[in-house]
Amino acid sequence: MPWNPDLYHTFQDERSAPFDDLLKLVKRREGLRVVDLGCGTGELTARLAEYLPGSSVVGIDSSAEMLERAEKLARPNLRFEKAAIEDVAGTWDLIFSNAAIHWIDNHQKLVPRLFSLITPGGQLAVQLPSNHRHPAHTIIIEIALEEPFRTALGGWFRNSPVLSITEYAELLYAQGGIELTVFEKIYPHVLENADALAKWTSGTALIPYFERLPENLKEAFFEIYRARLREKFPALPVFYPFQRTFFSAMRPV
Ligand SMILES: C[S@@+](CC[C@H](N)C(=O)[O-])C[C@H]1O[C@@H](n2cnc3c(N)ncnc32)[C@H](O)[C@@H]1O
Repeated sequence: MPWNPDLYHTFQDERSAPFDDLLKLVKRREGLRVVDLGCGTGELTARLAEYLPGSSVVGIDSSAEMLERAEKLARPNLRFEKAAIEDVAGTWDLIFSNAAIHWIDNHQKLVPRLFSLITPGGQLAVQLPSNHRHPAHTIIIEIALEEPFRTALGGWFRNSPVLSITEYAELLYAQGGIELTVFEKIYPHVLENADALAKWTSGTALIPYFERLPENLKEAFFEIYRARLREKFPALPVFYPFQRTFFSAMRPV
């Protein structure tokens, strides 16, 4: 995916708060083998490694652009690899993932698979955005289904794979997970205006659309998107209640 590390970092403060909340769920133990799925530019993976002294941490990501930044943070016990989350293998004392698995389809299959890679006494700890019902997301699909974009995209649009918190809890319990913690949390962001909201999603949810649209339609898509957001959120500033899902489970010893 053509991720843009600079654009992604525009909202770094807003994005690190959920990471802090996810870190609070991690059981600190010595000498863990840890993988951070979808590590991005690696700053948060480095914070995870600092939080777990004596552990060996590997961050994986499929984006060469993000990993190029991450590589600069590599050191003994912290390395980065280009790999797809779907292909992660081996066994791990901690599988950690902050704001990444919502890019992968079929969580009914993914979550049990990830949990199956956890060692006895180990932990799966995940945070993922679950704000796909917010207009910033639903408007994207609305435009994708209108011409000329519908034809250019071949009818494609991205359906959120994110499940309800009840479903994540049920999946983890069915796999034998214990000490389950599953919750949703709203992060109340106040943005200057609707354009700031458009800029936010252009660094994330819009990426797969830009990837698929021909050059001459990308700008048009974004202009319509921005105009609809301005229409939807005329008052200033714009309140953006960003919903996120957290889940954590341990494998019994
Ligand atoms: C929103 S960023 C989160 C980065 C980092 N975890 C953070 O919290 O700042 C999502 C990351 O997931 C990566 N990603 C998306 N789909 C992926 C996949 N199938 N396999 C590996 N990485 C993926 C993207 O390249 C991107 O770096």
